[in-house]
Parts: sequence; structure tokens; C-alpha cells
Amino acid sequence: MKITVVGAGNVGATCADVLAHKDAASEIVLVDIKEGLAEGKALDIWQSAPIDRFNTRTIGVTNDYSKTENSNVIVITSGLPRKPGMSRDDLIEVNAGIVKTVTRNVIQYSPNAIIIVVSNPLDVMTYQSYLEAKLPRTKVMGMAGVLDTGRYRAFIAEELNISPKDIQALLLGGHGDTMVPLPRYTTVSGIPVEELMSKNKLDAIVERTKFGGGELVKLMGTSAWYAPGAAAARMAEAITRNQKRILPCCVKLEGEYGLDDVFIGVPVVLGKHGIEKIIELDLDDQELEKLHESAKAVKETMEVLDRLG
Ligand code: NAI
Ligand code: 2OP
Repeated sequence: MKITVVGAGNVGATCADVLAHKDAASEIVLVDIKEGLAEGKALDIWQSAPIDRFNTRTIGVTNDYSKTENSNVIVITSGLPRKPGMSRDDLIEVNAGIVKTVTRNVIQYSPNAIIIVVSNPLDVMTYQSYLEAKLPRTKVMGMAGVLDTGRYRAFIAEELNISPKDIQALLLGGHGDTMVPLPRYTTVSGIPVEELMSKNKLDAIVERTKFGGGELVKLMGTSAWYAPGAAAARMAEAITRNQKRILPCCVKLEGEYGLDDVFIGVPVVLGKHGIEKIIELDLDDQELEKLHESAKAVKETMEVLDRLG
């Protein structure tokens, strides 16, 4: 299996490093436009192979897409990150140009690849990549829900003072302040979280999760990368290992949840064919209303992209 990660910045390099440590592919190609950056980071990761004992060969290239030929999975992380005071939507115009060019380049050499978009604003960049790739919707998806549920689960583990390994959770909607964490679908080793925590505490965690990205931008002056890189790697691994994992991913809906032509996070089964199934939960009226509100916000940003042409 071969994975290409475009963008050797914070998120891309972390994603490549996590994937290599998992031996999730035999080869990982890192691509960047900054001369030497991808080559350097790939070499650095490769030199940890004898120490941490993995086989994945990592190579880096500056804009040479011929080296990405026949990739099974492409992770697109190229683009500007947020600075304090910026929303993800402030990045639309410049990142759309980058995602469009990158998608065209990767598809030229790997026409059957499965694409995982990470660049922000996530849902709209997934739409951009889908438009350019001209692949079925099952092969172009965005990473957000795995990260957002990671944050949500980490906060719950901290509050309950229990292992994060024992928390299962789902989250729907766009990667933004309108995301929809689902306490009703959150369990701790099978125990509904609502039995372990007061509603007030859980509500506070839901709110913190919605602004989890902003919390880190404020602390670091740029957006996060360890959890985002790990989240994108989790999705890529589910595909290269055909794991059939149920993960929340951004995908184009065509009637599911009463929504059409919108890219938004829902639970899917991820395997070697990409999105192998979209799972439709039996939402209550309030949850469905929140999902539709989130979809409305995403649609508005998709329209901004349409106007940009
Ligand atoms: P970064 O600035 O560290 O890295 C971005 C890299 O992309 C840079 O090395 C840059 O040279 C490269 N790049 C720019 N244009 C390129 C092109 N045309 N071709 C190849 N490489 C190009 O940024 P970071 O922190 O890695 O974030 C990357 C993107 O991921 C941002 O848009 C950020 O907002 C987004 N992000 C999304 C998350 C999500 O949950 N979906 C979470 C965290 C970040
Ligand atoms: C995050 O949620 C900024 O989307 C990025 O960390």
C-alpha cells in the first residue's frame, strides 16, 4: 500500500509519522512546495524506523507528483492554518486554490486513489476536492469528526478520571461551531455517559468541544497538529488495512438525514473501497434540527466557493 501526504507542515508531517509508526503502508510520500521541507521531514521520520522498529519507507519531494504515482490513499493537508482571531472560513479563497491544484496533480498520477481532505475550512475544502477529482462520493472525504470526537472523549476522560480508551462517542455536522456532539450516543464501556455525569458538566464539555480548535489556536498562535495528524492517520489506516471502522467523516450526502448535496460529518464504515456505508442514526427531533442547522451553515460556505468559481 502507498500513501501520499500533501503538505509537510505540522499536520501533514505528524500524519506521516503516525502512519509510518503504525506500518500502515509500505511507502509514504510527503509532498510540499517549500524546497527541501518534505525531503527533510521524510528523512527524519525514516531515521526513526530502526529506533522505533517499523518498515514503512518515507520519502519526500518538492512538488514532484510523479513520485506519488499509484497511491492508494492521498491525504491533503496543504493550506494555511488559522491565526488567532481568524475563523476557519477566513481561509476559503486561498486554501481552495491550493486544494484544487493539489487534487488535480494527485489525481493525474493516482486516478483511483481515495482522498482524505484535512485543509480548512474542512467541509468546503472536501467539496472543492470532490469537484476537481471527479471521483464518486465514496472516494473523497474529509477529516474532522475523528478529531472532534477525540477532543470530546479526552474531556470526558479527564472529567471522570477514567481511561480515554473506554469512551465511545459520535458526533455529527460540520467542522465548526455548529458541530453536533451526541451525548445520547456516548458511552463509557457501554455505560451511557449521562449515568456517570451531570447534565451541566456534559453540556459544558459539549461547548468546550465545539470551540476546541479555537482553544488551541489561542494557546499556540496556530492550529493544532498532534490530534489532527493522528485523526487523519486513523482514517487512512482504516482504508489501507480494510478495517471497516465506524468513524465520523465528512461526506457528500444525497438524501441521508433528509439532506442533499451538502458535505457534512456523519458516521460511515471505512474500508478499502473508501466510504463503504453511510450510517443513518435514528435521531430525535432536537438532534436532527441541530444537524440541519449545521448543514445550513456549511451550505452557505459551499455557496461562497461556488461564487469564487
Ligand atoms: P502548516 O502551515 O504547518 O503546513 C501547511 C503546509 O502546506 C506548508 O508546509 C506549506 O508549504 C504547504 N503547502 C502550501 N501550499 C501547498 C501546495 N500548493 N502544495 C503542497 N504543499 C503546500 O499548516 P498545518 O498546521 O499543517 O495545517 C494544514 C491545514 O490543515 C490548514 O488548512 C489547517 O487549518 C488544517 N487543519 C484542519 C484540521 C481538521 O480538523 N480538518 C485540524 C488542523 C488543521
Ligand atoms: C482544529 O480544529 C483548526 O480545524 C482545526 O484544530
